[in-house]
Amino acid sequence: MTRPLSPADRAKTAAARRSVDFVEDGMKLGLGTGSTAALMVRALAARARDEGLKLTCVATSTRTARQAEGEGLSVVPLDEAGWLDLTIDGADEFDGDLSLIKGGGGALLQEKIVASASDRMIVITDASKEVKTLGAFPLPVEVIPFGWTTTRMQIEELLGGMDVMGTEITRRMAGDEPFRTDEGNFILDLALNRIGDARALSAALNQVPGVVENGLFLGLCDAVVIGHADGRVETRDLNAGTVHEERVLFEESDNIFRDL
Ligand code: 5RP
Repeated sequence: MTRPLSPADRAKTAAARRSVDFVEDGMKLGLGTGSTAALMVRALAARARDEGLKLTCVATSTRTARQAEGEGLSVVPLDEAGWLDLTIDGADEFDGDLSLIKGGGGALLQEKIVASASDRMIVITDASKEVKTLGAFPLPVEVIPFGWTTTRMQIEELLGGMDVMGTEITRRMAGDEPFRTDEGNFILDLALNRIGDARALSAALNQVPGVVENGLFLGLCDAVVIGHADGRVETRDLNAGTVHEERVLFEESDNIFRDL
């Protein structure tokens, strides 16, 4: 069943549509995870069909792999693809340096591996996710289930010495069960409110035994495509130092949220 497009849906759709303009024939692409990434995958598949593009795609989750294959895209493991030209993914927060918090969808580990194996990472988002300082969105940290309570205690202890404004840690749930990542791990969500030094925090978290990866993406994102509900799209390219604004036109009948 198709639901009507909300303003947030329209903004995400506009960003997703615009981002696939950066794709060129023959590219090896990383496909992100989440609702905005799902819209991008649909728009990408439509472009590949219409223009006969030959693309090799690497998915950042089983969810995205299933969708992309269902849409007719060729999906291969990262080890087969090797280095990627471009990864397009969503984010939970981004700041002026294009530092990100990711992992709201629980796919941060594969997302970080794929982004770091790409020449370029483009983030697609709506304007509500821009922040001055990261941390309003709880920071996801992937931990192995073995001894996770002691891992949590050690994270709590290290947060005491970090420049943050909160220390509450919650294990993510999926209904009555702990949420499990594609790798079978748990996610701890850290309510920090404000992260003063993201680099120091990221390095410290990854030193804790049991921590697999954290959701801070620092120095990985090259450009952000910010969608607005009226179809305006702003593209900020960090390396080129440019900001471009365009308008993406879409009809209500274009609702690509159907079945997603
Ligand atoms: C998944 C992610 C997503 O990119 C992030 O949660 C944004 O999701 P959405 O596009 O649904 O708002 O990091 O692990």
